[in-house]
Amino acid sequence: HTYKIAVIPGDGIGKEVVPAAIEVLDKIAELDGGFQFEWTYFPWGCDYYLEHGEMMPEDGIEILKQYDQIFLGAVGMPDLVPDHISLWGLLIKIRRGMKQSINVRPAKLLAGLESPLKNPQNFDITVVRENSEGEYSDSGGRIHQGVDEIAIQNAVFTRKGTERAMRYAFELAKNSRNHVTSATKSNGLTYSMPFWDEVFENVKKDFPEINTAVNHIDALAAFFVMKPQAFDVIVASNLFGDILTDLGGAIMGSIGIAPAANLNIEREYPSMFEPVHGSAPDIAGQGIANPIGQIWTGKMMLDFLGHHEAGARVLKAIEETLSSGIKTGDLGGTSTLLDVKNAILSHL
Ligand code: NAI
Ligand code: MG
Repeated sequence: HTYKIAVIPGDGIGKEVVPAAIEVLDKIAELDGGFQFEWTYFPWGCDYYLEHGEMMPEDGIEILKQYDQIFLGAVGMPDLVPDHISLWGLLIKIRRGMKQSINVRPAKLLAGLESPLKNPQNFDITVVRENSEGEYSDSGGRIHQGVDEIAIQNAVFTRKGTERAMRYAFELAKNSRNHVTSATKSNGLTYSMPFWDEVFENVKKDFPEINTAVNHIDALAAFFVMKPQAFDVIVASNLFGDILTDLGGAIMGSIGIAPAANLNIEREYPSMFEPVHGSAPDIAGQGIANPIGQIWTGKMMLDFLGHHEAGARVLKAIEETLSSGIKTGDLGGTSTLLDVKNAILSHL
């Protein structure tokens, strides 16, 4: 099978880490023998904006719909283009336009890496974040002025959106360690989170083989630092999941290795695979960016396409590379992007 992938390297280190990841993905496809990739590059991002006044063409979403998946680096040139333009003009446009309502981010202690935690045990967490509604809504406003000013921001939870995220989490847990934790805050929020808890109780009945826990988000954040090994799959609302996954990146050792996937789980439109990190203008163009976040993101794309064995081989080659001491500066090493990429290729 040939997968048609739209590639948006974007800006800064996106242009460096994306080609490295593509080399690794082509290599694993060749070794596997059962599939291959056909990459089509789109030069969208801030350079495109400076030339055309928009981050991507008017019909960009329609163009992207012709591809199986989207592989994105990072966008942002904060000195030349305001971040809200680069973010809303491309990333959010694609996430919303393609109904990528689930965001999946693993937090796992890789072999060969040190966590900043004092006493890290092996942890291996997958956070399923609802990606389209919840606390990030347009509903609200500001009234009065001066000392009487009031700001109101409503959260919108639909039964469909909530159930979709939860069912996806339970399905993932079946192929993992059979445990789902729900992130709630029903002691403080009196409508949205009791609703969230109720939907969780209902969905759980359809998965009797899966064990569950319910934790308030504040306690959950503390547990991420104190005992991350207690978790398997976690399902969280948009805001809670956003905060928790940055913490997840931090306890793994570097934002430069953290992967992510924006999924259209109905497979009606392409999903988008992009690492957690941004365009890192402070180190762009020097060949020292860590390509592991982008390569691990490629592994998530392999998994979503059903090539789990190939995906596992990529992650193993990453861990073997780290264990041999080949690390970029963000992980305390002195290796370059090319050193890391070449080591991963040879371990494959
Ligand atoms: P950032 O993630 O680009 O950088 C934060 C820090 O982490 C920097 O010190 C950077 O050097 C380091 N870092 C990040 N990725 C690394 C890697 N692969 N290897 C080694 N070090 C790495 O976040 P920042 O600085 O807040 O944002 C820079 C630009 O990126 C902004 O324009 C921002 O809007 C954009 N951004 C884009 C994202 C995306 O496209 N998905 C996500 C986050 C930020
Ligand atoms: Mg965030």
